[in-house]
Amino acid sequence: MTTPRLETLAKLTPVLTKRWLSPDAWRIGTYEKLDGYAALRKALKAHPDDLIQLVKDSGLRGRGGAGFPTGLKWGFIPQGDGKPHYLVVNADEGEPGTCKDLPLMTHDPHSLVEGVIIASYAIRANRAYIYIRGEAVHAARRLRNAVREAYAKGYLGRNILGSGFDLELVVHSGAGAYICGEETALLDSLEGFRGQPRLRPPFPATHGLYASPTVVNNVGTIASVPYIVLGGAAWWKTMGTEKSSGPMIYSLSGRVANPGQFECSLGVTLRELLELAGGMQPGHNLRFWTPGGSSTPLLTAEHLDVPLDFESVAAAGSILGTTATQIFSDQDCPVYATYRWLEFYHHESCGKCTPCREGNYWMVRVYRRILSGQGTHEDLDTLLDTCDNILGRSFCGLGDGATSSVTSSLQYFKQDYLDYIEGRTAPKLSDKQLVGAH
Ligand SMILES: Cc1cc2nc3c(=O)[nH]c(=O)nc-3n(C[C@H](O)[C@H](O)[C@H](O)COP(=O)(O)O)c2cc1C
Ligand code: SF4
Repeated sequence: MTTPRLETLAKLTPVLTKRWLSPDAWRIGTYEKLDGYAALRKALKAHPDDLIQLVKDSGLRGRGGAGFPTGLKWGFIPQGDGKPHYLVVNADEGEPGTCKDLPLMTHDPHSLVEGVIIASYAIRANRAYIYIRGEAVHAARRLRNAVREAYAKGYLGRNILGSGFDLELVVHSGAGAYICGEETALLDSLEGFRGQPRLRPPFPATHGLYASPTVVNNVGTIASVPYIVLGGAAWWKTMGTEKSSGPMIYSLSGRVANPGQFECSLGVTLRELLELAGGMQPGHNLRFWTPGGSSTPLLTAEHLDVPLDFESVAAAGSILGTTATQIFSDQDCPVYATYRWLEFYHHESCGKCTPCREGNYWMVRVYRRILSGQGTHEDLDTLLDTCDNILGRSFCGLGDGATSSVTSSLQYFKQDYLDYIEGRTAPKLSDKQLVGAH
């Protein structure tokens, strides 16, 4: 394992992660000692519109994958409309490789609870929900405990800290479906229906939960808010780039010596992150990686110095997504990795639209044929043609995301496909797996 140089260590900007290593960081006593709920006291003295403006000025962009400007989203909520408003926190974190929201809720749940109260006050919501992945029992337990502690201290409930503002916060566990991370499917699931995406428009800002104005934000987005309220927009913008401001939790997994979460300013490079993570595992050389989960097109060793911010990753042909960097080496097969991801998308497709439901089903079968040594050259055209019929033609982003690793692996690693087809690489799947279950 290599030791990071001092200048690379200086790239770490612990803001959202700053309390994670404190003893009992998840308890309200620890949280209050370390600035906890100070931002709420400050926020409750401000006008809600000024808070929305502050978040706009900070340039905060959603941490759930799409990078939508948060202040702008809050500003879409109609005011004085007489309808109830809702804040819904997306804590589903289902994107393969992504691991930032669950550790945040496990280690520092009060930062999310405090962010929820401030954001609800800003958009004038008196009821908020945190929709958490069903399997994340440990994080949900910590979160529910934090909510109980916050009620007991008067940070939640009626007349919060004597401000006249009321807020009820509910932690809701989903049943563990990737599609329920898509914001409109999440709202359907929260209402008790089967989780499937809704047609837009109308958008959640006017017709969200129970057909009322709703903001849906990621855990990291909402947990950033108390820091912005305390530190100010100008301080927040000292981190990151002009258009991608602030710190971001990057999660590194795969063939790295020391996988885990590294919080750095947006715009750090993979070369720097790898150094922070102690380098590649011994005997492994970087071959391909995802910048933001399996829905984002693969990058290669050529892209080690691409700044990992929204604009630069897009210019390099991929998507920053959830900053889940999954690292693969020269001992990993891009064809097999793509097949495993496709199995996931095929399994998680909600079935509402034909391109995703049928396209992923058939692509899995084509991959099985190639990986069992029975593929043809025509299969590669079939894969690209199928992607062409899924991308931009699916009802939601799940279908689009499924095509990312297929098209990018064919772009960078076509030879690996040809080696299976032309018999130079031994089959990875048996004839039995060719037919497969489901
Ligand atoms: C298939 C699919 C799964 C998604 N899963 C998540 C998720 O687990 N967590 C999340 O915050 N956003 C997820 N998103 C993005 C949400 O739809 C939405 O953009 C996000 O919650 C908005 O929050 P933000 O503006 O704070 O980023 C997913 C989108 C799609 C298409
Ligand atoms: S793209 Fe897939 S997940 Fe999304 S609506 Fe269509 S079938 Fe469902």
